[in-house]
Amino acid sequence: MTHRITLIPGDGIGPEVSSAAKKVIRAAGVDVDWEVQHAGLEVAKLTDTPLPDSVIDSVKNNKVALKGPCGTPIGGGFRSVNVSLRQRLDLYANVRPVRSIPGVEERFDVDITIVRENTEGLYAGLELMILPGIAQSLKLTTAYCSKRIADYAFRYAVKHGRKRVSFAHKANIMKISDGLALDSTREIAKNYPEIELREIIIDAAAMTMVRDPNSLDVIVTENLYGDVLSDLGAGLVGGLGFVPGANIGDESAIFEAVHGTAPDIAGRGIANPTAIIRSAVMMLEHLQETAAAQRIETALYRQYREGKVLTGDIGGSANTRDFTSELCRLIEEGS
Ligand code: NAI
Repeated sequence: MTHRITLIPGDGIGPEVSSAAKKVIRAAGVDVDWEVQHAGLEVAKLTDTPLPDSVIDSVKNNKVALKGPCGTPIGGGFRSVNVSLRQRLDLYANVRPVRSIPGVEERFDVDITIVRENTEGLYAGLELMILPGIAQSLKLTTAYCSKRIADYAFRYAVKHGRKRVSFAHKANIMKISDGLALDSTREIAKNYPEIELREIIIDAAAMTMVRDPNSLDVIVTENLYGDVLSDLGAGLVGGLGFVPGANIGDESAIFEAVHGTAPDIAGRGIANPTAIIRSAVMMLEHLQETAAAQRIETALYRQYREGKVLTGDIGGSANTRDFTSELCRLIEEGS
């Protein structure tokens, strides 16, 4: 069967790593008809928008997309393409498995999943300058979205044989907004008596992620906290080159790495494509291509275990192309 999938290469290292993911998917024997759509900083220079409607239409039609990172101007300029895509397509669950690969970052052995609310919180974009020198940012929290993401996290825990969902919040300070999210999560937890609900204040959650990450198991949290914890998680498993992600909605899903455009290494062909390849593995599982997903994961683990062809971010000397060729070779050898 041929899958029609939207490919958004993105900015910076995006085209380099997404091309690696395409090659790996082909090596695993999955037939894909890629519909390439451009969004991000480069598109904004050529057109009047960084996110043309054609990108949204393509994801709506195909239901599934693989995406490279898109740059966002800091301080001013256009709104984040990433946040807009998630909001416009209502991709409410940002699922980020943080899992150690044997041979990489031996200090920790991590296996947790962060489920981040993707559509509201401080990322709702409700900011204003009240007076010169006084800015206000509104944190939007609804019972609807809080329950929806909690329910997703509990369903995820059941499906993946997890024991606990940790809800990370700051309801001791933001009593109304985080308080509403906490009450909503407690209500949903009652429907899943087999899964333990742990309530943890966000700063304690950050400390626990470093000292005893696996005790958190599945973390569910609002948008900004989830964003920060994701990069902390990446730090535990070898860096941003390793953590994949999925933005899931009821109608469609976009798979992308946690990392950004890495402007410091873009265009040099040295980025680690592991995070987007692991995102592609999540995408193949979503498409019920489980055998191919397994083949890629097995080969990836073998490549890291052998430690011969690795990228510079973890001390290797291979470039993106050589890393990818070796992975394709291992996939083909293993099939
Ligand atoms: P970043 O994730 O792009 O880079 C942080 C550091 O990690 C850099 O030193 C970079 O070289 C390194 N790094 C990241 N991915 C790597 C990889 N695959 N292999 C090796 N090293 C890697 O974060 P930064 O610099 O804060 O953001 C740059 C741009 O990316 C910004 O415009 C930001 O808005 C955007 N961004 C986009 C995201 C998305 O599209 N989902 C997510 C995060 C940031």
